[in-house]
Amino acid sequence: MIEADLAVVDAAELLTMAGPVPRTGAALRDPGSMAGGCLAARDGDIVFVGTSKQFRREVRLRPDAVKIDAAGRTVLPGFVDPHTHLPFAGWRDAEFVERLQGASYESIAARGGGIQATVEATRRAALDDLVALGHARLDCMLRHGTTTAEAKSGYGGNLETELKQLEALRRLAAVHPVDVVPTFLGAHVVPAERRHERAAYVREVAEVMVPEVARRRLARYCDVFVEQGAFTVEEAETILAAARACGLGLRVHADQRSAFGGARLAARLQAASADHLDHVDAAGIAALRESGTTAVLLPGASFFLRQAHDAPARRLIEAGVPVALATDYNPGTCPTEAMSAILPLACLRMGLLPAEAIAAATLNAAHCLGLAARIGSLEVGKAADLQVVGVPSHVHLAYHFGINHCLTVVKKGRVVVQDGRPIDPRTCGA
Ligand code: NIG
Ligand code: FE
Repeated sequence: MIEADLAVVDAAELLTMAGPVPRTGAALRDPGSMAGGCLAARDGDIVFVGTSKQFRREVRLRPDAVKIDAAGRTVLPGFVDPHTHLPFAGWRDAEFVERLQGASYESIAARGGGIQATVEATRRAALDDLVALGHARLDCMLRHGTTTAEAKSGYGGNLETELKQLEALRRLAAVHPVDVVPTFLGAHVVPAERRHERAAYVREVAEVMVPEVARRRLARYCDVFVEQGAFTVEEAETILAAARACGLGLRVHADQRSAFGGARLAARLQAASADHLDHVDAAGIAALRESGTTAVLLPGASFFLRQAHDAPARRLIEAGVPVALATDYNPGTCPTEAMSAILPLACLRMGLLPAEAIAAATLNAAHCLGLAARIGSLEVGKAADLQVVGVPSHVHLAYHFGINHCLTVVKKGRVVVQDGRPIDPRTCGA
């Protein structure tokens, strides 16, 4: 008999996501669905996945075990959100209203709003405030089924504030059930006071900030925003080469507002991911296919910016590029913590099938963070990171939209959300 201290039994549908990693092409449609599925865990890891009949025959629950009845519900891996800008201060709700009245994202940035406004608010915030804000935001993610999230700095524009953001992430990672994967994004915007010496700023990011972040072990990845008005391909290459030399993995904000060459750069440097890609061209898609770099798509940002079109998800999938989904959680282009809000957008705006969107939000997202050996699917030997959702099939996660269906979240074998509430409840939207 297999001994277990946690079991989830009799799911209407259990999505294991077992199979090839990453999921590409037609395989992206196969979520490893099992009707009447059961799962058992011991000491945080999955020890059994199978039918009710097999469960009753093979699993022995310890007397103090937690048993979750999933009848009529869907069980799937916890969401992995591979692109967020979590540690920021201040909101930009006034810009939202301005944009609704016709102002463009670019014109707001040009007059000192946009990313620069968040830089200023984040510089003013105390470390403790960033930690408190981050804690409430991670609680909100958890309530919506996210069990692992990447999180970027990038609202510092100087060493002190970038370190403060990353230090906030380190403290959050130590106390919060959501696993946090930290990324250094010193090259998000050239800060206002350095506009006339951008070459010196790029040098400082590459030669001072990157080595210091790496020395303090504050980040696992380095990201650069490659775009008109942000950083050029050449500048990004200087910074990313320095990051690689310091042992950091690479990610790129690529081809978001124009076909600027970010995807090709990400592929050339064999980055873990190229993110956004709303304007990626055929050469960019081919390069990503060749390098195996994951395309992290952010339909929440294109929706929120009211863009006419989204990243060419179907072309990327057909080309064999691994595709993941993320929130892009940030105060300017996608203020939602909820991966569950991203799934309907991915389906309705990009044409993904619900099964494809869920694979992109779990297994492929884990893959692009280098974590697929431990999370992203429900298989024996992996961490018991899962969610029980109050819908009868996975399709409802995209179809029955605008509702948080997540009832129970298990992180490393421990129930951390029950009846939709974190065990240590805090408010959403702090
Ligand atoms: O991913 N593209 C650049 N950075 C963010 C926007 C950040 C902001 O507006 O504060 C993004 O969309
Ligand atoms: Fe982003």
